[in-house]
Amino acid sequence: MSAPHATLRCIACGRPWPLDAIRYTCDDCGDLLEVTLDIAPLRALRAPDAWRALFDARLGARDGPHASGVWRYHELILPDLPAAEIVTFPEGNTNLYRVPPVEREAGSTDVRVKHEGENPTLSFKDRGMTAGVSWARHLGARVVACASTGDTSAALAAYAARVPGMKGLVVLPRGKVTAEQLSQPLAAGCLTLSLPVDFDGCLRILREVCRRRPLHLLNSVNPLRIEGQKAIAFEIVQQLGWRPPDWIVVPVGNAGNISAIGKGLFELLELGIIDRVPRLLGVQAEAAAPLARACREGYGARVRVTANETAATAIRIGDPVSYDRAVKVVRASGGFFESAGEGEILDAKALVDASGVYICPNSATAVAGFLKARAAGRIAAAEQVVIVATAHGCKFSQATIEYHTGRPEGGGRRRANRIVEIDADAGAIERLLDGA
Ligand code: F0G
Repeated sequence: MSAPHATLRCIACGRPWPLDAIRYTCDDCGDLLEVTLDIAPLRALRAPDAWRALFDARLGARDGPHASGVWRYHELILPDLPAAEIVTFPEGNTNLYRVPPVEREAGSTDVRVKHEGENPTLSFKDRGMTAGVSWARHLGARVVACASTGDTSAALAAYAARVPGMKGLVVLPRGKVTAEQLSQPLAAGCLTLSLPVDFDGCLRILREVCRRRPLHLLNSVNPLRIEGQKAIAFEIVQQLGWRPPDWIVVPVGNAGNISAIGKGLFELLELGIIDRVPRLLGVQAEAAAPLARACREGYGARVRVTANETAATAIRIGDPVSYDRAVKVVRASGGFFESAGEGEILDAKALVDASGVYICPNSATAVAGFLKARAAGRIAAAEQVVIVATAHGCKFSQATIEYHTGRPEGGGRRRANRIVEIDADAGAIERLLDGA
């Protein structure tokens, strides 16, 4: 591939910056940068049918970059990255499940869950991290770093561990990530720091360090990383035979993911690979819902909140970095933002979990937001809906166990499935089976 196929551009003033320098904000106006794909040569290279056929032909790849659900679309994701420098497990290729209990509850005809918890470190962050760490290696970075609510850190640690000589550093809000998430960077040999502040505080402090030290920051302020997350949208439409669903529903924390999904969809539209962009519904937990509030209030001044406690700990973010990007793309899609309360989140999680598709509380926030939007008539019964489940339920086992065993108090727990404690004796089991 002859470079360059993409540039960095400020999302506010549009000033271009070279792709191969480490830079997260515009020197002129201080705003975020985003990767701009050079669409014209891609359009000239292949007609829409040929692009679809190419990506379909790669579905059978067993090894090499095309076995990845991210790098299958390499022409559209960091095309300037040499294939030999890709760091991949591989990732992606996650299933799109029908969830009949959600369809019944919503009175909808077609609702599916894109289960990103099926990625190597059990969250969608692997798609971003394969892009971010590959590019960091391409630029010769020695130390990659992120602040995290637990999933970005797990992904960073795993991908950094695959690169000889690369060190990972993660900054976590103390007591605010799950035990399973905390175990992941420890296991991968990553420098794991625990700070007595929330996620917003961790990110602020790490960004300060990055201004003075040569750390390669892999939070979603890094526009190269979130390029990989566009592949969630690419896979969804490919799995649906290149017919976009009516809605894509995404849980929102720092708002990098919904921005990336939207960006990817508009690129597919420009290339003619799809003929319309699905509407995006971004859902936050009520405890941390600046974007949902901004949406209700007509997107006036930027809303920042202090995040309160929520079972959806991974989206416990009061001041999303990609706020402007997300507002832009959600509005352009004709979608909106919604929020869901704790009881709604946990009941929605139990609803999906009981279908055998085990999701996390953050993902369940999206399900709860969808159910609210359906009940309010903002999504029609016949519209096809894809809900992005961002991480696996196994990373958040405490929330599941507390819901089913009745602790802590609060929340409806409409679907609690209690543990039955009985004597260690076959007769006790038989009496139970006989309903005695
Ligand atoms: N769902 C899960 C499971 C997450 O871990 C995150 C973000 C989100 C949803 C929201 O995505 O931030 O792009 O809007 N987790 C980050 C982290 C903040 O550090 O792992 P977003």
